[in-house]
Order: sequence, then structure tokens, then C-alpha cells
Amino acid sequence: MTIQAVVFDAYGTLYDTQSVADVTEEAFPGYGEIITQVWRIKQLEYSWLRSLMRRYENFATITRDSLAYTLRILGLQYEDDTFARIIDRYLHLDLYPDALAALDALKDRKLAILSNGSPDMLNALVKNSGLDRVLEATISVDAKKIFKPSPEAYLLIEEELGIAPASVLFVSSNPWDACGAKAFGLNVAWIERVTPEAMALLCVKSDLLPPLTLFKALRTQMDALGVEIDHRIRSLSELPKVVAFHES
Ligand code: LAC
Repeated sequence: MTIQAVVFDAYGTLYDTQSVADVTEEAFPGYGEIITQVWRIKQLEYSWLRSLMRRYENFATITRDSLAYTLRILGLQYEDDTFARIIDRYLHLDLYPDALAALDALKDRKLAILSNGSPDMLNALVKNSGLDRVLEATISVDAKKIFKPSPEAYLLIEEELGIAPASVLFVSSNPWDACGAKAFGLNVAWIERVTPEAMALLCVKSDLLPPLTLFKALRTQMDALGVEIDHRIRSLSELPKVVAFHES
């Protein structure tokens, strides 16, 4: 069936969450990388825990709570303005180098974001990066008060865009998100930002694994959740080919 809309995950797919590392390293020299890794791991963990606990708080709150957790467990002291500076970087994340060209090449379809991010965070991020000019909609799971990979979150695509799941291509680099979207019934392209070969190389290079390697091992390789993703890509520039595949 023809793909009428291409819907992207935001953090880790269009936007590089690692780009906060420059600010964390500047604020806490020597700790930049471990802060970003523990922070992102806890941020996602809290979104799932709160969903299971039925204690929803929006992603902005979760992002702050997980940063506070990270700095506390690492024993780092800080002033409020340091904390605010790190959080602010989340509203100015770098786009991945392949993002703009890919969106441009797909502009004959409806383009949107479906993200766990709260509306304020997402709208600021999209505006600061100029994506507001190309996206038809920036959809936040906040309307459902539950996070991806809950099916209710993916339901928002049809509710907001009026396009049935069979005509939507969902794109995510997050394996858990790709599996969730596929289990819901969307066509899914998983962008493998870290190839298995690169992963294996990182793991043999040193017997003391740095935090970034642990993060990549936990959160970038395909999960064993019994779900077969439709398309496995290595750059967003492959998306027009994926969309064309559905025409034939
Ligand atoms: C998103 C994050 C969680 O939904 O990747 O954008």
C-alpha cells in the first residue's frame, strides 16, 4: 500500500541526543560522557516505569528528574544555572547530518514527528532546528499521558494525521520504539545508527568498556522482542527507496 505519511521518532533518530555532551563536559570536566549515558538510560527507564506505574509525568519533568539523579549518584555538586544550561541544550540538539536532506527528499508525503517529548520541548526543538518549515505535525504522546511503546501512543498518528497505519512509514533508530511501532501495525524502518560490526569492534577494543559502549550495547542494537522490522536502513537517505518499495 502507498505510503502517505512518513513519521519520525525525534530523539536519537532526527536529533542526536549525544550532542549534549559538549555542555556536560564543560560543566563537569571528565564526566561529560558518563553523565550523558546514565542520563539517557534513566530518562527512558523513567518513561517506561511511570507508564507501568500509571504515574505519568511529562517528558520535560522526566528529563530533569533523570539528570538530577545522574548528577547525584555521581556525587557532583552544581548550581541551578549549570543545571539549567544542560537542560537548555536539550532544546537545541544537533540534527543528524542525514536528516535535512532526507526530509527534503520525502516532501511529497506528509511528514511528522511522533515523540515521547512533551509539547513545549518538541516545539522549541523543532523551531530551533528549522524543522517547523518541513513538518506537517509534531505529535507528542502527552495527549495520551502514556509513553511509547504503548499502543495508545502510536494511535495518535491516525488520530492527528487521519492516515491509517498501513499507509504510514514510521522511522526510528530506537529498537524498542521500532518494535513497539511494528507490534502496533505500522510499517517500520529501523535506522541502525550503530552497525553490529561497529558494535563488535567497540567491544573487543578494550577490556574496560567505557559508558558510551555500554549505552550502545543496551540501546542501539535490535531487541529480542519477537518482532520483525520491515526495513533496516543505515542512513535516512535510504527512505525514498523504502517509500517507493511500497508503491510496487
Ligand atoms: C522520542 C524518544 C524517546 O520519542 O526517542 O523521541
